[in-house]
Amino acid sequence: MKNIVVLVSGGGTNLQALIDAQNNGMFKNGRISCVISSKSGAYALERAAKNSIPTRVIARNSYDDFSSYTDALLSALQEENADLIVLAGFMTILDSKIIKAYENKIVNVHPSLIPAFCGVGFYGLKVHEQALARGVKYSGATVHFVNEEADGGPIILQKPVAVNSDDTPEVLQRRIMEEAEWILLPNVVKLFCEDKIKVENNKVIIKD
Ligand code: GAR
Repeated sequence: MKNIVVLVSGGGTNLQALIDAQNNGMFKNGRISCVISSKSGAYALERAAKNSIPTRVIARNSYDDFSSYTDALLSALQEENADLIVLAGFMTILDSKIIKAYENKIVNVHPSLIPAFCGVGFYGLKVHEQALARGVKYSGATVHFVNEEADGGPIILQKPVAVNSDDTPEVLQRRIMEEAEWILLPNVVKLFCEDKIKVENNKVIIKD
């Protein structure tokens, strides 16, 4: 049974999609064993607690420097025996020490079709503001492995979502969550738990 540790910072609707998938029996060989939040008041923590999932708060601003924050987060992941780390709306940069320790074991959901609207500074609503400003007709979501380049790791699954001419960033964000993120993320976790994701030359191959 793989230990799935979910890292969050906010509302946690993607965490909720994972909890719902788990409650529906989608993860045959894994379970969400811990939710770690970078913010103490995050609603995601309540979602976990309601489902009896253990939680931890490791806030960047509780540590003097980035290095001691990284060490605290790494220790927590090791204590939890994490097999898979899911960044579900996690808004803090991970140090390369953590990324190296969990190569191809950290996945992130990003609310655009990478390589569009991604990288440093593209997170949350900012992504959708930029997509609307550029006038794209389709955006979407991507789930990818995390490497040392921001949003640059191997792409696992993507799904396009139509942009409407009267969309606001909030409306587009919600449609992309509903039609893409909340579907892709549980599917990636399911595939990972079933050992069906292989990385070759920085590309993902999904095994049958
Ligand atoms: C989601 O749209 C997620 O894709 C995005 O933040 C939102 C979190 O929502 N993540 C990023 O922008 C990461 N670069 P949630 O807390 O309700 O899951």
